[in-house]
Amino acid sequence: MSKTTTQPRVDLDATRERLQRVALMHAAEQLDGLISEAVKEDCSPHRFLDKLLDVELSYREERRVRTCLHLSGLPSGQTLASFDFSFQPGVERSRIETLATCQWIRENRTLLIQGPLGVGKTHLATALGMKAVENGFGVMFYRLEELLAALRRDADLAPARLRSKKYLSTTLLIIDEVGFEPMTRQEASLFFRLVSYRYQRGSILITTNKGIRDWPEILAGDEVLATAILDRLLHNSHVLDIKGRSYRLRDLERMVAQQA
Ligand SMILES: Nc1ncnc2c1ncn2[C@@H]1O[C@H](COP(=O)(O)OP(=O)(O)O)[C@@H](O)[C@H]1O
Ligand SMILES: [Mg+2]
Repeated sequence: MSKTTTQPRVDLDATRERLQRVALMHAAEQLDGLISEAVKEDCSPHRFLDKLLDVELSYREERRVRTCLHLSGLPSGQTLASFDFSFQPGVERSRIETLATCQWIRENRTLLIQGPLGVGKTHLATALGMKAVENGFGVMFYRLEELLAALRRDADLAPARLRSKKYLSTTLLIIDEVGFEPMTRQEASLFFRLVSYRYQRGSILITTNKGIRDWPEILAGDEVLATAILDRLLHNSHVLDIKGRSYRLRDLERMVAQQA
């Protein structure tokens, strides 16, 4: 006489609800599809469980990156994949790829990207900022003008409240467009306070159209302050000096060449 073992019926809705109760929301949403797939592929219970967790964790990671990118203020659409290295031969792909590993951020170093207008400074800063977010680092992106406005607004805050400000607490602070406008004396000294605070505590990435010797001019003509700031910024830093052509003027150059 054969003996049939009857297994208790599993209620899919109840399983889905249990997944929701333990906050595996995405796994709950995908449950039906994952079960059908597992049956079709005759997959082992262990493999099924692993797939279910993978679906949840991948979704969470995607959401984390999306939220962090949004909060960081990084401009969108400027990635390493969309950077044309052949247009800018002075920018070594291997050097950028090394920077994209974020080791310099782990070591609290500074990256200074300098060069004339349109050569891709903001593009590279943004792309490296995105890599930092993907690697799990906190990133904040400011144009210098916006950062100085925030520093002026917070100038009189007590140290404890000041320390909670994102431009001090974030792991990587990106300051774009340094040197377009000279700072006032007050701004230069607030900028010094910022750089001093972050020195060896967190990374700074600066883009600038000015060379090192123009920094006193940027900093309200104060040579002493400029030396003190550069001393901290350039200690253990990476400098990317882009000497190439403007990408913005590329199309214009082509038009002129065609007309000639
Ligand atoms: N090598 C490049 N490949 C692709 N796009 C580029 C490159 N260099 C610059 N761009 C694009 O040209 C425009 C100007 O570059 P940007 O990074 O703003 O220059 P900069 O900050 O040096 O003035 C942006 O839209 C940027 O995405
Ligand atoms: Mg720029």
